Amino acid sequence: MAIDYTERIPNNVNLAGDRRLQRALEQWQPGFQSWWREMGPAGYQATEVYLRTAISVDAQGWATFGHVRMPDYRWGIFLAEPHRDRTIPFGRHLGEPVWHEVPGEYRGALRRLIVTQGDTEPASVEQQRHLGATCPSLYDLRNLFQVNVEEGRHLWAMVYLLHAYFGRDGREEADTLLVRRSGSPDNPRILGAFNEPTPDWLSYLMFTFFTDRDGKYQLASLAESAFDPLSRTCRFMLTEEAHHMFVGETGVGRVVQRTCELMKEHDAAEVGPFGGIDLKLIQKYLNFHYSVSIDLFGSELSTNAANYFSMGLKGRFNETARADDHQLSEAQYSVARCDGDRIVDRAEPALLALNECLRDSYAIDCARGVAKWNRAIKAAGIDFELTLPHRGFHRAIGDWAAVKVAPDGSIISPAEWERRRDEWLPTGAERAFVGSLMQGVTAPGKFAGWIAPPARGINHQPLDFDYVRL
Ligand SMILES: [Fe+2]
Ligand SMILES: [Fe+2]
Repeated sequence: MAIDYTERIPNNVNLAGDRRLQRALEQWQPGFQSWWREMGPAGYQATEVYLRTAISVDAQGWATFGHVRMPDYRWGIFLAEPHRDRTIPFGRHLGEPVWHEVPGEYRGALRRLIVTQGDTEPASVEQQRHLGATCPSLYDLRNLFQVNVEEGRHLWAMVYLLHAYFGRDGREEADTLLVRRSGSPDNPRILGAFNEPTPDWLSYLMFTFFTDRDGKYQLASLAESAFDPLSRTCRFMLTEEAHHMFVGETGVGRVVQRTCELMKEHDAAEVGPFGGIDLKLIQKYLNFHYSVSIDLFGSELSTNAANYFSMGLKGRFNETARADDHQLSEAQYSVARCDGDRIVDRAEPALLALNECLRDSYAIDCARGVAKWNRAIKAAGIDFELTLPHRGFHRAIGDWAAVKVAPDGSIISPAEWERRRDEWLPTGAERAFVGSLMQGVTAPGKFAGWIAPPARGINHQPLDFDYVRL
């Protein structure tokens, strides 16, 4: 399963053995490159960045590190090793051999899943393209670019599937993935959170914690798919995604740490005057990013999700490891729903509640990260706790879009919401304040005053390493 880097498109799928596919992808490649030059990181296209590149897809040392210019990054097509004799782990085809081609009757549904996933990848690169100018350090700048090139590779991963398995429709969809633009009024990206701006580094770190983590859960449920090429593609993507969430979890953790240091140093509850970001303001950013990210899981009850599951296209998180019938024909699932001005847990058909089930797995994972940040606050001797807001808070999708819910889960009137939303979400002035802290710091080993240095460098390099050669 070695990756062939002598080819124009590095790959481990024996692209050379399928000339038609190879030619089609080579025709898509220049469009990707011009998209990258136009919409990739602004101002750093000619700069050498210390990036990791996959050299093989097995667990040991799949990455090699070196300084490269981003447009020269070797984007390619990498699938995880096939599992021998893998059978379909759920749905009405449970136990049958997995598919190596797309069954005709599932073509439309599968293509839609792949396009929706694929669209998020370039979207996040577009959302983050102006952040380089205000980086808090070369270490952080390098991590941003690593995330960006890997999101670009995730686009390749989905485009490969579209080209290889969906014929002409797939090629057209692949072209359209390069045409939509995050935040464009006429031609936006498909999902809401991927049209939100990422204007500052606190937003970016929250995005990598909350929104890339949505990606992890979507990829993990697609990794269970009966369509084996999709499963293998997503399994390899998950190994890359882990770094993105590392950036978010440690990044927000470092902001929290720095705030605590400033609070102690100045014996003050508010650290804005000292160039820090108050814990209360961090909480507001958290409220915003958590709420827009849980919208990405869709409506509480969804016949689409039920169909994807029954067809064998998209499973649950850790589907294979679950001990139930994997068909959910009779099962029920508890879903928090709104009943007038009360919130009640109602047993719903588990098959219809799969979005909520995935959202629950996600919420548990988010809570783990928040608890870690809270341990650092506590260790600093500060009496403050970050919390995830109630899932009904600030929602635009599903049941909760119709009601106003406070972070503590109480249902409130629209008037109270208007009166109090500034207590819960960053105001324009607060966003402007965070923006004012964003002054690029590019001296090796130096860090902006609102974020603590990381515990260690990348790939055993020191913190003052030239992660980006300016
Ligand atoms: Fe991604
Ligand atoms: Fe990601």
